[in-house]
Amino acid sequence: MLNLVLFGPPGAGKGTQAILLAKKFNLVHISTGDLLRQEIADKTELGRLAAELIDKGEFVPDDVVISMIESRLKKPRCTVGFIFDGFPRTVAQAIAFDKLLTKHHSKVSVMLCLVVEKQELVDRLHKRGLTSGRCDDLETATIEHRIDIYNEKTAPLITYYESQGKYYPIPGMGTIGEITENLIQSIEKFNTRPITVR
Ligand code: C5P
Ligand code: MG
Repeated sequence: MLNLVLFGPPGAGKGTQAILLAKKFNLVHISTGDLLRQEIADKTELGRLAAELIDKGEFVPDDVVISMIESRLKKPRCTVGFIFDGFPRTVAQAIAFDKLLTKHHSKVSVMLCLVVEKQELVDRLHKRGLTSGRCDDLETATIEHRIDIYNEKTAPLITYYESQGKYYPIPGMGTIGEITENLIQSIEKFNTRPITVR
C-alpha cells in the first residue's frame, strides 16, 4: 500500500497537486480540510465547531481529526494507496496516525513536502480567496496567522518524518505542471516497485 503524505504550508498547492497525483497513480485522495468543509456544508455538530476554528485559522482538535481519518480508512475499497492532503497537521496527529496505520498493517510510505517562499504563499492564498469562497483565504491577518501556526505546530513534522527517513522536499515554485513533474519524479524515485496506473 502506497501512503503518501502531501505536506506543506497553506497555499503550497497540496490540494491541486493531490488531485492530479491521485489520478495519475490511482490513489484515494483524503483531504481533511475538504472533509471539514463538507461537515460545515452539511451543518453537522462537528461542522459548527470546525467553522468557528477554520474562520480564525485555528486547528480542529487532534482527536476529532484522527477519528475522521479512522472512519475513512475503515471504508473497504480496492486501491493501491492513499494520498493524505493537509493531514497530519501536528506531531500528535502523526503519532496517532502511525498507530492507526500499524493497526491496519500499513505505514506512511513517504512525506512529500512542497517548498514555497512565503510571499508566494500569501499571493496564492489571496488569489484563491477571490474565487474559493473561503473566508480563511481572504483576510491578510488570517492568512498570516495560518502560516504562523503552520511554522509553530506543523513544520516540526519535518523532523519527525526526517528521523524516519521519509522526508522528501519538493520544489513547489513554478507552474502547476512543473510542480506535478517534480512530485512524479520523486514518487517514481522513491517507489522502486511498479505502481499500477489505470
Ligand atoms: O487543509 P486545508 O488548508 O484545507 O485546511 C483548512 C483549515 O481546516 C485549516 O486552516 C484548519 O483550520 C482546518 N484543519 C484542521 N486540521 C486539519 C486540516 C484542516 O484544523 N488536519
Ligand atoms: Mg488544501
